[in-house]
Amino acid sequence: MKILFISSELTPFAKSGGLGDAVSSLATALSKLGHDVRILLPRYYFISKTTLRRINGLLEIDSARERHPAFVYTTTIPNSQVKTYFLDCEQLYGRNGIYGYTSTQEFPDNPERFSVLCKAAFSACRSLGWIPDIMHANDWPTASVPVYLNTTEKNTEFSNTAGVLTIHNLGYQGIYGRDHFAELGLGWEYFHGAGFEYYGNINFLKSGIVSAECITTVSPTYAREIQTPNGGFGLDGLLRQRSRDLVGILNGIDTDVWDTETDPYLPAHYSSKDMSGKAACKVALQKELGLPIDPNVPLIGMVTRLVEQKGISEVFGRTYGCMRKILDTIHVQVAVLGSGDAWAEEAIMNYSTQYPQFKGVIGYNERLAHLIEGGSDFFLMPSRYEPCGLNQMYSLIYGTLPIVHRTGGLADTVVNYNQDLGEGSGFMFDDLTPQAIYDTVGWALWAWYNRPQHIHSMRSRAMRQDFSWARSAEEYVRLYQHAVSLRKAR
Ligand code: ADP
Ligand code: GLC
Repeated sequence: MKILFISSELTPFAKSGGLGDAVSSLATALSKLGHDVRILLPRYYFISKTTLRRINGLLEIDSARERHPAFVYTTTIPNSQVKTYFLDCEQLYGRNGIYGYTSTQEFPDNPERFSVLCKAAFSACRSLGWIPDIMHANDWPTASVPVYLNTTEKNTEFSNTAGVLTIHNLGYQGIYGRDHFAELGLGWEYFHGAGFEYYGNINFLKSGIVSAECITTVSPTYAREIQTPNGGFGLDGLLRQRSRDLVGILNGIDTDVWDTETDPYLPAHYSSKDMSGKAACKVALQKELGLPIDPNVPLIGMVTRLVEQKGISEVFGRTYGCMRKILDTIHVQVAVLGSGDAWAEEAIMNYSTQYPQFKGVIGYNERLAHLIEGGSDFFLMPSRYEPCGLNQMYSLIYGTLPIVHRTGGLADTVVNYNQDLGEGSGFMFDDLTPQAIYDTVGWALWAWYNRPQHIHSMRSRAMRQDFSWARSAEEYVRLYQHAVSLRKAR
């Protein structure tokens, strides 16, 4: 099949979280199955043109305010056949940020920036003479691709192209004032007709949910949760209406990048059969962060965007969070890497100065993320909700036992410890409260100190799990075939 992904993020070129990883590794897996997979994303300022090749003449993409001149540049995702197209439009993307200069402040023209990207998908395909069977949109920035398929492109060469939308995170819907609607270049009849209207505003994700042939999300449990008032962020009713065409497919991970036997970021390598390298990684991590070097004290790692979704208030909140109690009452070390909300960054820096057994690094650091996964004994991920979550899977295959809230993809990938039988691959709690996190950390550390043979067997069980993309990619292929048949029947 010919498949075009449209995305605002793509690892290794532009990534703010798991979206970039998921799109990149799914596309690569589909391409390995023999499909012609290509991807369109903006050429943000930080993506250097020097390694890219310009491929066509000028494209002109209209938004209501102006006509945007753009070029398309190309390369492939490293170690793959996946052609990547970069939409180069200085006015819209020539800035040093994906959604904004900082993670807390977005560019005011994002509705226009991303609608132009969606429209350019069609112009770029035309200029390449390549019409895909599937256009696969990801999250709100590209959710209006299926809308264009059903409106302006309904009776064009794209009439047989099916639209698929993947929801990586329902918490971000792209809600803007209705005065932005003109920028989309659609008649006002589509404000309601194509599902944009949301309490008088525009909701990009909603329009995609209404318009796509098929909708996916990134784990089976999350697919159920988003159809409930608790997990639906106001769209559960609509998602229930579309439940026949909605499926949860668990993300895989890139097992070339995340491999304890070859990871270039790790100072020593290891496997489930020989764990000695993991001990060396722990020493390296303790050394690098300035933690006391001690193989016997359990080390808990965290790598996370510091946003409420990730349960940061419950952990680091000044009066409410459980971190202080953990540090005051349990013999443990903690290593945190993250960036995001200023109050949380500050709290983490304060803990780092107050407690020698706690070290936080603020920023984005791929190498340190790998070292924390490799060098820690446990990985704390108390997300309020988690569509899939990649870090707990990285942890599992790195033999770092996850301590998680039973939600979304965390519930689908971690098996809770059974202390009678020594079974399981991690530690789970049902209610997200600071006390529950504290108790579960305490439970994990009880096992560390009192049931070392259980910890050992849980680790090797976790490391032997297969989270590669192969199985999920085949599920996507079946879904694409279904989407094409739905499109033809329309
Ligand atoms: P989300 O996409 O919601 O942030 P995921 O678990 O799906 O959550 O993916 C997070 C990805 O971002 C992982 O690849 C993780 O290693 C990476 N990541 C998050 N914060 C950092 C950071 N500060 N430094 C390096 N990598 C990070
Ligand atoms: C989002 C979700 C995360 C998921 C990722 C990739 O960022 O928050 O749970 O793993 O997308 O699909």
